Amino acid sequence: MNRRQFLAAAALSGLATACGSSRPASDPAAFRTALRVPPLLKPQVAEDGTRTFALSMERGRSEFLPGKPVETWGFNGPYLGPTVRAARGDKIRMTVANRLAETSTVHWHGMRLPAKMDGGPHQPIEPGATWSPHWTVDQPAATSWYHPHPHGATARHVYRGLAGLFIIDDDDSAPELPARYGVDDIPLVLQDKLLAEDGSPTGDPLKGTFGILGDHMLVNGTYAAFVDVRTERVRFRILNGSNARMYHLAFADGRAFHVVAGDAGLLPAPVEVDRVSLTPGERAEVVVSFKAGEQVLLRTLSGSDDIDEGDFDLLKIVAAPKLAASPRLPGRLTSATAPIVVPADAKVRRFRLNGHDAINGKEMDMSRIDEVVPAGATEIWEIENTVYAHNFHIHEVAFQVLDVDGSKPPAYASGHKDTVYVPPKSTVRLAVQFGGFTDPATPYMYHCHILRHEDSGMMGQFVIVKPGTEHRVSRTINAHH
Ligand code: C2O
Ligand code: CU
Ligand code: CU
Repeated sequence: MNRRQFLAAAALSGLATACGSSRPASDPAAFRTALRVPPLLKPQVAEDGTRTFALSMERGRSEFLPGKPVETWGFNGPYLGPTVRAARGDKIRMTVANRLAETSTVHWHGMRLPAKMDGGPHQPIEPGATWSPHWTVDQPAATSWYHPHPHGATARHVYRGLAGLFIIDDDDSAPELPARYGVDDIPLVLQDKLLAEDGSPTGDPLKGTFGILGDHMLVNGTYAAFVDVRTERVRFRILNGSNARMYHLAFADGRAFHVVAGDAGLLPAPVEVDRVSLTPGERAEVVVSFKAGEQVLLRTLSGSDDIDEGDFDLLKIVAAPKLAASPRLPGRLTSATAPIVVPADAKVRRFRLNGHDAINGKEMDMSRIDEVVPAGATEIWEIENTVYAHNFHIHEVAFQVLDVDGSKPPAYASGHKDTVYVPPKSTVRLAVQFGGFTDPATPYMYHCHILRHEDSGMMGQFVIVKPGTEHRVSRTINAHH
């Protein structure tokens, strides 16, 4: 068994991996700021049923350290953004106003939609302008998110605070799952910041091998937060919204909990674990049981891959003296995320990561189409990493991890996903399911979601086209907007 397989097995068995530095547990009394919970964004419902959500990118002031206000950016507020929530089948429209002094974009990470609505680097929103993409939600229930994607400036815009959750509901999710937003269904956006004495986030998101790895852990923009829970079971929707940090999440008492969903939807059945690893852009939904009157810290444990240095406590969970009963976790969660079947003659595409600013030796070029994919295809994408830690995100798709260096991923990470960790010196194979929206002139992105790498050119572009027209598609596009 090599080290990688050992770590995978250790993660599976819950064995401590005993590496990296470890700092003493913090004093639970230090966690005294109430966790902020992003508000749900209310849509305007038009006569034809279209639900319009209004977002505005703006500057504001936030206090990460009490009494030390600093300038931050947010959607409809000073930091992060409201939670957008829509159901499968909904016709939705977003209005995104840019009230900043520079051009940005807003990408719907995890959303299956036409390329023109995707919000990548080809859909810029100039200062003072409003962008209004619209689409019909047609994908399984999931915890997705939104964030800027201007090429070369994503790291800075996200680090300033621009990000929010996008929850999708469907009729095929077990009704026993906790689902009262902010009560027993609580979002946790994890971010790390390097804070100066005066409380301002510092560091250059484009310097060093990984950009910024912070020394202060924020949850929903709250430093040293606590949250009160009042039910026996609570679902946490966790997003790694950090620029570079990888989290290995566990509770201070090592308790077991259940993972019920990954990036792109519910798992077929709950998976019991005592830790969950998330790289930037990845999500997990977990269900945790509590005893009346107890308190427990949610922590991240250090690993050995540079982007997971240090043990940090993230959040104190305080259970009320009396807890309301919760339904038992069901054995089956959904049938909407059936295994992705790979045809025997599936096309295999290979992507090599051997630095931090290119894929297959090519730096991102807005005017170059790197891959042309027929609509509705299922393909194998093989990501080979010859260097240090990376991850890999593909727009528009759902994928499943076939294997990592030939070994199956842990059960909790084997569901539908859109972002995956690619450990140092390893090869990850994905079964990728592409959607049916075709547009030979507007690309979707694939990239490392460590934002320092994405901004430096570790990104490529693909178009989805009508099957049979692949060879006719132009490999260059006009990228001047
Ligand atoms: Cu979360 Cu291409 O991004
Ligand atoms: Cu994305
Ligand atoms: Cu990377």
